[in-house]
Amino acid sequence: MVSFMEVVGLRPDGCNTMATVEVDQELCVGDQVCASMSPEIFEMHDDGLAYVVEGMEEVDGDDLEAAKEAADACPVDAITVHE
Ligand code: F3S
Repeated sequence: MVSFMEVVGLRPDGCNTMATVEVDQELCVGDQVCASMSPEIFEMHDDGLAYVVEGMEEVDGDDLEAAKEAADACPVDAITVHE
């Protein structure tokens, strides 16, 4: 059972849970599912690979959930979310 506080990325003590998002371009094969699912966090560059949108390297709340879903959907596990 996930509490509302966990869903929105808040800890009961009131400290926000920030997580870092990374794309390993050595692993990325340009599947684009990440950028399709969460264009606010992932973008495709001219090299055909995904990158984290500038300023979205640290996320919480809905953005954190979106980053995790994209990480799960990536076929080569090129996305890591460090909490
Ligand atoms: Fe690359 Fe995975 Fe996104 S292969 S384009 S990081 S879904």
